[in-house]
Amino acid sequence: MQLNVGLLGLGTVGSQVAERLLQKRDSLARRTGVVLNLRRVLVRDAERPRSIPSELITDAPDEVLNDPEIQVLVELMGGEEPARTYIERGLRAGKHVVTANKVVMAKHGPELLELAGEMDVDIYFEAAVGGGIPLISTFKVDLIANDIERIAAVINGTTNYMLGRMGADGLDYAAALLEAQAAGFAEEDPTADVAGFDAVYKLSILASIAFGARVHPDQVFREGIEGIDPLDFRYAKELGYEIKLLAYAARPNGKIEARVHPALVPVSHPLAQVEGAFNAVYIEGDLVGPVLLRGQGAGGRPTASAVVGDLLDLVFTIRKKAANRVLMTFDPDPPMLPMADVVTKAYYRLRAEDRTGVLAQVGRVFGEEDVSIASMIQKDSIEEGTAELVFTTHPARDAALARARERIAELEPIRRVGAFFRVI
Ligand SMILES: NC(=O)c1ccc[n+]([C@@H]2O[C@H](COP(=O)([O-])OP(=O)(O)OC[C@H]3O[C@@H](n4cnc5c(N)ncnc54)[C@H](OP(=O)(O)O)[C@@H]3O)[C@@H](O)[C@H]2O)c1
Repeated sequence: MQLNVGLLGLGTVGSQVAERLLQKRDSLARRTGVVLNLRRVLVRDAERPRSIPSELITDAPDEVLNDPEIQVLVELMGGEEPARTYIERGLRAGKHVVTANKVVMAKHGPELLELAGEMDVDIYFEAAVGGGIPLISTFKVDLIANDIERIAAVINGTTNYMLGRMGADGLDYAAALLEAQAAGFAEEDPTADVAGFDAVYKLSILASIAFGARVHPDQVFREGIEGIDPLDFRYAKELGYEIKLLAYAARPNGKIEARVHPALVPVSHPLAQVEGAFNAVYIEGDLVGPVLLRGQGAGGRPTASAVVGDLLDLVFTIRKKAANRVLMTFDPDPPMLPMADVVTKAYYRLRAEDRTGVLAQVGRVFGEEDVSIASMIQKDSIEEGTAELVFTTHPARDAALARARERIAELEPIRRVGAFFRVI
């Protein structure tokens, strides 16, 4: 049996996938009983020299999308359009789809899965979240018996690398970004990573699958890591925390909470030890308890591992004549918990006039907003006549934490609120 594959995109991931299919054609065929035949590869610039035979390459989308011999489309172009349209065209033509596209799956996944169901084909997207880490299949298959209670993840390698450099070596934000760009971990325009959009797309996919409910990226609260001061890494460490860009989803009292923001993570938490460009996802299920998955969340080879893995999974389901094996369903409009109602601990760093009575004034505001203080440290400040005050709090409503922050900033002896982080 032979399965003809049409590849859309031959970049970082696509070239690794193509290489695997071409170089391991015989051993994959022995293992699966199916020859995976790479038939056509779509690129933007067909003139550029490539590492695969030139007769496979085309820059005409129809040569792949309208080829009736192609049974599987592997979409590795990235971006929302035209990728979404090509995936839809593929499904409507009765082709199975494997994609690594988080933007398309986060924004349009449920519709595309439904369409795949109607057309009796499969759509696989393991590589869309966490590169080579097996996440989608973990939720779809291994943890399916559980009610998932929460997901806490470090799922953006770029920001994790930058925060690591700021924490360990005191680099400021700009220097950490330049270094990440030089090392190839950050794009020239780093917005998608540093502002948290990439993590939002990934969390929206994970939360949708974990909770069987549609969590649109627009419903995920988002704050990026821009402007974090290296000073806070020192204080965080003193208090027993690391700073991470946290992606968090839970379902307290039936409402879905989904948020991406920098957070203080206790050093004893497994996510605190995720270093460099690595990713990790911590899951709590009601039967299984805590599960931690950790690995390379990006890079051509790890991501190709997930893409080719999906292809092989597809081959097995086709051989068993069991297409659309796990039909995912999503509550289209689940109740969401607004950020204001999220209950979390927090960290505040204030610069205050170094005189008596300041603590009492700050304490009064916290008290009036029903925020209870867990710890306080006071440090000399570089600014003459001022002190740095660092507070952590017990859990409180996010709205109360925000109001306390605003009111404290207005107190006469407070020069500024230098930092505010949520704490897990
Ligand atoms: N890179 C990673 O580490 C990683 C990790 C996880 C997931 N992903 C996902 O994998 C996908 C591919 O990422 P990548 O890093 O491999 O991207 P990439 O290196 O930028 O490659 C994109 C490929 O798609 C082709 N392409 C783009 N737009 C096209 C269009 N409109 N028409 C025809 N061809 C087009 C490009 O053609 P040319 O070669 O002619 O420019 C290139 O071959 C994305 O969805 C990304 O989010 C990537």
